[in-house]
Amino acid sequence: MTNQLSSSLLSQIADFKFPGEWNDGAAAQRAKESCAQLEEGRILYFDNIPFDFPKADREFLLSQKQSEFKGHKNISYRPNQDLLRGAVGSSEDLAKTHDIMRRYSAEVVKFLSKLLAPYSRHWTLDFASYRPEQEQGRDLALHKRNDLLHVDAFPTRPMHGNRILRCFNNINPSAPRVWHTTSDRFPQIAENFAADAGLAQIAARRGHNPLVVGLKKMVGMKAPAHSPYDRFMLRFHDYLKEKRDFQENTPKQRIDFPPGSTWICYTDSVPHAVLSGQYALEQTFIIPLRALVTPEKSPIRILEKMAGRSLAEAA
Ligand code: SIN
Ligand code: FE
Repeated sequence: MTNQLSSSLLSQIADFKFPGEWNDGAAAQRAKESCAQLEEGRILYFDNIPFDFPKADREFLLSQKQSEFKGHKNISYRPNQDLLRGAVGSSEDLAKTHDIMRRYSAEVVKFLSKLLAPYSRHWTLDFASYRPEQEQGRDLALHKRNDLLHVDAFPTRPMHGNRILRCFNNINPSAPRVWHTTSDRFPQIAENFAADAGLAQIAARRGHNPLVVGLKKMVGMKAPAHSPYDRFMLRFHDYLKEKRDFQENTPKQRIDFPPGSTWICYTDSVPHAVLSGQYALEQTFIIPLRALVTPEKSPIRILEKMAGRSLAEAA
């Protein structure tokens, strides 16, 4: 393993015991410290899978044939509706994949409710995914490329300052999942690039034109209520991928997540790119601002300070 990273980027956790408890004594304090580290832009890292994920289930996922259909390369699981999307195969295989994804999602939830206890009463469970595709050399449009450094923003799920937290597992039996992350954390990235990406202009635009919103409603189009924060973060995602100078010259670090490892980070603020790797799983959580242990360090608060105004209200 080649993770010779400064401890400011990666925090390896060794005092959390399978199946899912902090070592005795300081559980509440360690859980809070871990939330604080994530909010600083660190990646929490385990060299194992600290929850129940049977080997037979992992082997079944590895053995599944992948969809030929472009755009359906990831299998997604929506825990709130118990819905599986993007998988192909016999109805028996689909039922088994569904069952494995349901249990994976439930186990990650159990795990993070202990690891990150301060969040667990507040979060909203988002989608889980299985990523069976080799990431290296994927032929994708620029804004969809995940091998370019970016921060995550969801076009269809406005956040209003709430946070995108993701727990990843590399189930590849032999190859690491290789990421780049920037040496700078979000405050510095924002300092360097938010103005050029159009923060002031986006902050000055107070919501959508009511006429447009009304028209969309009339024709039955859903108009998700994006705040200025959401519009900026969607723009920033694209801006960073488009910006060649940033991609090539920003100081970055490579992280090799070995087979059987687990890592957790706020992908809306930790710039990341996946260079290679195949067979990862991931469960996403939405953490509301009010659950953060250091809300002043959140992207929305940092950007608001720069813009000199609130970015939160809905359009
Ligand atoms: C991403 O860019 O969010 C994907 C990271 C990964 O699949 O490793
Ligand atoms: Fe991403």
